[in-house]
Amino acid sequence: MKKDLIQIQDLSTAEIDHLIDVANDIIARPQAYQERCLHKKLATLFYEPSTRTRLSFESAMWDLGGTVIGFSEASSSSAAKGESVADTARTVECFADIIAMRHPKEGAPFVASQAVNIPVINAGDGGHHHPTQTLTDLLTISRERGRLDNLVIGCCGDLKFGRTVHSLISAMSRYQNVRFVLISPPELRIPEPIRVEVLEKQGIPYQEVTSIEEAIADLDILYMTRVQRERFFNEADYIRLKDYYILTPDKLKVAKPDLSILHPLPRVNEISTEVDKDPRAAYFRQVKNGKFIRMALIMKLLEV
Ligand code: NCD
Repeated sequence: MKKDLIQIQDLSTAEIDHLIDVANDIIARPQAYQERCLHKKLATLFYEPSTRTRLSFESAMWDLGGTVIGFSEASSSSAAKGESVADTARTVECFADIIAMRHPKEGAPFVASQAVNIPVINAGDGGHHHPTQTLTDLLTISRERGRLDNLVIGCCGDLKFGRTVHSLISAMSRYQNVRFVLISPPELRIPEPIRVEVLEKQGIPYQEVTSIEEAIADLDILYMTRVQRERFFNEADYIRLKDYYILTPDKLKVAKPDLSILHPLPRVNEISTEVDKDPRAAYFRQVKNGKFIRMALIMKLLEV
């Protein structure tokens, strides 16, 4: 049976750990993988803007010896003429072996996955999930820290609409002795289904705070996020909240010397560029990791 990746829960912990092992092996021995997807084609169907996710998927496939087709905006596809996601997916299935789809509507990649017999990867659906960013984040945490357990993880910013945080919390909750500090303005708190179904039901310790300053000294990981302008109903609310958090070298003075600062990017104002020089800033290493874990995932789903 074909396998899709719609949400991070579609992978077992053993499967995630294996993908991380494969990604580390690709980093160590890239030549060994350069023909693994010969004659295979990836379709990237992006109905929403993207830089890292789309380009890392495409680079991943090229580096495996495969090829890539796709579109990077809905307006250049037949979606602009009113075609359904299911019909577009069935069309693409005639040409490609695997699909990566990003869509502003929650559930669209799931709908596509039900319509076709090739694997579909969710590359971000609205404010819902972003499982391949989470795989990237887990690879980064394990490379930076040497472990995925025994960590205090601070998630800061737009925890309401930020899909990467939703998937990250679901994934990290599976590891032993992980504690979350959720840092957000009251309006952008983590949604109730994640607070109740993921954290409370599993007895994962967490606290909710509104300022970085009161949390930072305790953290092993600080996961910054952008305020998701495109998901706001009202521009005035976005303007009021967009600069709520700005991480600066000054705020980092009391942080642990081995803190890891992650961000799925793009950054707007929430991390001052002066922080980039700090060795604890891992976000551009995180971008690089994204290609390797996507290579591992494509191989797994194509069973090569
Ligand atoms: C994130 C996304 O698209 O959700 N970006 C990414 O894929 N690296 C985060 C964001 O857009 O803020």
